[in-house]
Amino acid sequence: MKIIRNIRHMQRSSRAWRRRDLVIGLGPTMGCLHRGHLSLIEIAKKKADITVVSIFVNPTQFSPSEDFGAYPRNFARDRKICADSGVTAIFSPRADEVYPPGFSTSVTEELLSKPLCGKSRPIHFQGVTTIVCKLFLAVLPDFAVFGQKDAQQALVIKKMTTDLNFPIDIVVGPIIREVDGLAMSSRNRYLSPERRKSALAIYRGIELCQEIFDNGERDSGRIKKIVTNEIETHGGRIDYVECVSIESLESIEKIKGSALVAVAAYFGDTRLIDNRVLEE
Ligand code: PAF
Repeated sequence: MKIIRNIRHMQRSSRAWRRRDLVIGLGPTMGCLHRGHLSLIEIAKKKADITVVSIFVNPTQFSPSEDFGAYPRNFARDRKICADSGVTAIFSPRADEVYPPGFSTSVTEELLSKPLCGKSRPIHFQGVTTIVCKLFLAVLPDFAVFGQKDAQQALVIKKMTTDLNFPIDIVVGPIIREVDGLAMSSRNRYLSPERRKSALAIYRGIELCQEIFDNGERDSGRIKKIVTNEIETHGGRIDYVECVSIESLESIEKIKGSALVAVAAYFGDTRLIDNRVLEE
């Protein structure tokens, strides 16, 4: 497995693979790999000849009050996981090459990045679209795989890819959960055992709203309330619970066909997100 630290080197390798007509799949990550990432790697491996995993904790998607400094990093462990999973190359550029002094260009998606996480994390998606754009231009993949847990991120990236005519397919892998239902996230490790238990309320809330939806409930107010109550009863602080269109992310009052129930909640200082697509 190759470890590539430099953007030019990455582009040179990708151009060589492309000359040989090899299909390149990219799994963009911030490291601290877990089973959720592994499932994205597996999806990439099935479709690609060359699987590249990028590992870069991107400073521009964290606001000054967020956990950039504390974000878990363990390159040796990530490298072993990638090697064991048959990844072709890790692309892990240095921050000062990605954002050299004087860096002054960014990519902004103006619609889908505004609601949900965009409200409480106003600079987040601009950081994400900018780094993903840079990763695309460094790795030159045929497709890239993102997780449905970050449903809004996947939609924003799809929109950016279409709007900017990137010749890259965006593939979205399903949410991977711990055995008890908590959605896999690098941030789960911040939770104390007690908070970890309370945080399961998010999953239970989502399951409850699936249940009432399956029994015919279409009123988004009642669906949101059941999730909110479950989380608040277990000590969680709601950032948002929304019921939105799965395409436009606009709020829905009465569900017709399908809807995305999206949740962000704090347990202690840890902000967790999760979602469910309700579909008839
Ligand atoms: O989902 C993530 O881990 C990050 O937002 C991404 C897509 C790797 C960009 O930094």
